Amino acid sequence: MNEIDGIHTKYDKEIRIGAYDAIKQYKDIVNQDPYRLHYHLMPPVGLLNDPNGFVYYKGLYHLFYQWNPFATEHGAKFWGHFSSRDLVRWKEEQIALAPSSSFDKNGCYSGSAVVHDDQLYLFYTGNVRDEAGNRETYQCLAISEDGVDFVKKGPVIELPSGYTAHFRDPKVWKQDDKWYMVIGAQTEKETGTVVLYRSTDLCNWQYLSLISDEQEFGYMWECPDLFSLQNKDILLFSPQGIEPDGYRYNNIYQSGYFVGKLDYQEAYYEHGAFKELDRGFDFYAPQTTLDEKGRRLVFGWMGVPEENEQDHPTIESYWIHAMTIPRQLLLRGDKLYQQPVDELVNLRTELIEYRHVTMEDNQLELQKISGKSLELVVEVKEHTNKYFSVFLGKTTRITFDQENKVFTLERKSINGEELETRHCHLNKLSRLRIFLDTSSIEIFINDGEEVFTSRIFDDQENDTISFQSKGKTIVDVYKWKLSNVMNK
Ligand code: FRU
Repeated sequence: MNEIDGIHTKYDKEIRIGAYDAIKQYKDIVNQDPYRLHYHLMPPVGLLNDPNGFVYYKGLYHLFYQWNPFATEHGAKFWGHFSSRDLVRWKEEQIALAPSSSFDKNGCYSGSAVVHDDQLYLFYTGNVRDEAGNRETYQCLAISEDGVDFVKKGPVIELPSGYTAHFRDPKVWKQDDKWYMVIGAQTEKETGTVVLYRSTDLCNWQYLSLISDEQEFGYMWECPDLFSLQNKDILLFSPQGIEPDGYRYNNIYQSGYFVGKLDYQEAYYEHGAFKELDRGFDFYAPQTTLDEKGRRLVFGWMGVPEENEQDHPTIESYWIHAMTIPRQLLLRGDKLYQQPVDELVNLRTELIEYRHVTMEDNQLELQKISGKSLELVVEVKEHTNKYFSVFLGKTTRITFDQENKVFTLERKSINGEELETRHCHLNKLSRLRIFLDTSSIEIFINDGEEVFTSRIFDDQENDTISFQSKGKTIVDVYKWKLSNVMNK
């Protein structure tokens, strides 16, 4: 692993300087973009994708992310880095990892973080293309004493037999005094799966087995994450190659989970059916961590690979994509609920409140219920209606069709003017909690039973909100303006 020293250290410095230059060069253009978000994490320039290394360490939350500073396209990824005391106000830290070594020269791809002996360990995939363009993959380690400066230790796992080079995204956790790692994989038969490794020292890893014998579920599973909630083991992952099935799997790639039980001795995972975690247009590669309060927290990438990336209006301002807001995961029965973390109430200002608003076959605007960066809570008190809608701006519409028990989000498509929809089945609508942020929307239905996450590129001048009811609906409405904590 001598590549880590000498010439590579020099090269590492050079490409970091290149990335900082790109930030400087485009900072003003990026920050003037009207679509820039107010309370979501975004790249300072270039492209952001997966959340990585989400961890609580020495009093701070750390969130790393896949980052291409040089273009609004995918490429040789860096690990960008944010830290926060409260999950609300974030500091941009120095670059954590740059693709500068022989084992990661085409990208420091996704991975995770754990704390051991007061040090922060990052595990990531070194993506390499050989001279003929063939993919090589190495699961690598980097260690930090302070959570800011990382020393690369090089590969700790090479590709085992039986798998193609689509083998990546290590997620590590501790169970009964041993370390475990799941890796997203493709078998030689070109089916997606997840493999399990074990270690006693975080450096030497023993291959155990693939943990799901699901045969026909896509060609690759990316970004696995295995954790327990209420005595059940949940495997969260992002499969590729799943065909749409009614209202399910409507994006190009999905993110979802199994609920089951992992037998750590036999390395066998028994689980139920796959469920999508989010039902909107833009949600992928979620990653969780257990924080010091015992909460299972999750960030997702508010985007999907390849999906209309070339048409995003922010590209002309030299940036693309963002993270979701941080959320807490809860398990109810065999279903994951997502709720915004409690700390986000600290963003609230200027409450506007209406109680017992009655609508009957009409459309209604409420004074001061408007804006582009806000939280809107709608408590449904009574509805004997056919449907109930909330319109946001010119082109975004949320509808609960009570007759057919279908919830719908409609938005203007990113690549044109036509409207497009995502749906889910829903028995009852009792509460909507909506986070709107300039060009994004996150809708939490009934305390997180279903969530729709999407970017929305609407007319920036139009910040109206209105409600419509076919039949009778009675609601309480609360709106807070949310502070801008991102624009510096
Ligand atoms: C998921 C993914 C990961 C990979 C990373 C590269 O979006 O394709 O599998 O590690 O992005 O940026």
